[in-house]
Amino acid sequence: MQGQVFVQVFSRACANTCGFQQHKMDSVTRPELFDFHGISMTHYFTDNWENIQNFQARSDDILIATYPKAGTTWISYILDLLYFGQTSPERQTSLPIYNRVPFLEIAIPGLDSGKDLADKLPTTPRLIKTHLPVQLVPKSFWEHNCRIVYVARNAKDNMVSFFHFDRMNGVQPEAGDWIDYFLRFLKGKMVFGSWYDHVNGWWKKKQTYSNLHYMFYEDLIEDTGREIDKVCSFLGLSPSAEEKKNITSQVQFDNMKNNKMANYSTLQVLDFKICPFMRKGKVGDWKNHFTVGQSEYFDEDYKNRMKDPTLQFRTEI
Ligand code: A3P
Repeated sequence: MQGQVFVQVFSRACANTCGFQQHKMDSVTRPELFDFHGISMTHYFTDNWENIQNFQARSDDILIATYPKAGTTWISYILDLLYFGQTSPERQTSLPIYNRVPFLEIAIPGLDSGKDLADKLPTTPRLIKTHLPVQLVPKSFWEHNCRIVYVARNAKDNMVSFFHFDRMNGVQPEAGDWIDYFLRFLKGKMVFGSWYDHVNGWWKKKQTYSNLHYMFYEDLIEDTGREIDKVCSFLGLSPSAEEKKNITSQVQFDNMKNNKMANYSTLQVLDFKICPFMRKGKVGDWKNHFTVGQSEYFDEDYKNRMKDPTLQFRTEI
């Protein structure tokens, strides 16, 4: 898509059955990036800034934090099933994941802001999603010592996934050509800023903030059941073996891809003709995008920037 694209968007999400309002969004445009407290952002994530910063967390809130495209929806779905899969089975067929786990900083004209959705969440705990770098998280989460689950994904696959997402998402800046995108990613000129700063910032936080569970997308792919066990132990949950088996199956890629409540097909701002939201779900898809030269260039740059030997990513498993 070239230039500014005007998308008349409204949510197709099951207005009659969901018990939530059908949203009619105004015309929205692809935004420009600008510098915001040292981070590249678009106005959709800064328009509501004062309210976001003043968000009142509760001590039992659980914050799901990620750099975009690191597996946010996957971990959100896992946590939603762990907490509410048994007690509120109707959620599974009626509420899209983005309403169960509001995106705190999003503010798109014509839609409830993420902050308002989070305020209105009737659940305990409230599961809340953010892509903010650690230094921009509203202070109330720290004051209440909230539990935080962070998921990180290796930079190469993260970049590829973000590229395709920007191609299909009418409220993201234009993706442009792959090579330009590649260079922009290295420069950190992406919405929510530099991948390098994001994953390192949260990793560093983990050293001083014990209520943070840092996970890796590649580990989830390698052994979803093992990672569910770890997150359960962090959250103090003990699902039965049957429940765990059931959840592990429901969150497999193909099952989520075919599940309208998890695959974002109800959000019309996303153009599935360009690319589905649940695209490939693999480790190593970067090999289908990076040339050998790009990979070497990337690796050299990576070595100079990722200095902490305790933070290691796998680009294949
Ligand atoms: P790809 O574009 O590589 O397929 P987010 O939810 O943070 O936006 O991340 C989206 C990425 O996570 C997409 O990656 C998507 O396919 C992948 N994903 C979502 N659910 C998944 C699952 N159950 N298994 C594997 N990957 C999943």
